[in-house]
Amino acid sequence: MWRASILTILPEVFPGPLGASLAGKAMAAGAWSLDVVDIRAFATDKHRTVDDTPAGGGPGMVMKADVLGRAIDATATDDRPRLLLSPRGVPLTQARVEAFARGAGLLLICGRFEGVDERVIGARSLEEVSIGDYVLSGGEIAAMAVIDACVRLLPGVMGAPASSAEESFAEGLLEYPHYTRPQLWEGRPIPEVLLSGDHGKIAAWRRAEAERITSDRRPDLWAARHSRARTKPAGRE
Ligand SMILES: C[S@@+](CC[C@H](N)C(=O)[O-])C[C@H]1O[C@@H](n2cnc3c(N)ncnc32)[C@H](O)[C@@H]1O
Repeated sequence: MWRASILTILPEVFPGPLGASLAGKAMAAGAWSLDVVDIRAFATDKHRTVDDTPAGGGPGMVMKADVLGRAIDATATDDRPRLLLSPRGVPLTQARVEAFARGAGLLLICGRFEGVDERVIGARSLEEVSIGDYVLSGGEIAAMAVIDACVRLLPGVMGAPASSAEESFAEGLLEYPHYTRPQLWEGRPIPEVLLSGDHGKIAAWRRAEAERITSDRRPDLWAARHSRARTKPAGRE
């Protein structure tokens, strides 16, 4: 079973949305499990202190290496990747999510305050992962995002097996637009081709739309796709 272990000072926010819909049903069916560890339980003073002022001065507080180190040591009893959610981490990609979903699970550490004492990151081999170029107030929502992205890829969790193959980022493209009934809504029709029943034409239209959207919105993905195509040996798709 795929296991997610979360270290947080806000254990009460879990499972949150992970307990609903696809992820919640998959958890109830035993496809994955979630353990939530309260970092404060590893503090040794009567106030259960997990943070202190930054060495060298400056704003905010820093999560203490000694407390977090003990929490990690008590939880990381196997070789699952140990991720520290962090805006300065390597941005998460769908390819990375797929690799995580193929493994045994993840240990996710949710930062708070200004961040985490740098020494614990090195000493416990934490891999810093970001969910985007913006700053959240804590790692909990980021951890939920990482877990949700992984869990939906576990065997049997998503309905149609083709779903993930056609989604955004498969083949380095964003997904084509979707429509459903009514056929005419506020004067806007569903594109004719989608009602034609011609599967070849539908596939070609979807492909062209995916390419248009990707080149308009994500020049970075579009350029990467073209440079991959240029470096592939001739005759290989
Ligand atoms: C207020 S943030 C700390 C920001 C930090 N001072 C900086 O400038 O990089 C507190 C915590 O939220 C989490 N966090 C914030 N933004 C994130 C992001 N984009 N991806 C992943 N985690 C994030 C991290 O765990 C971080 O330690």
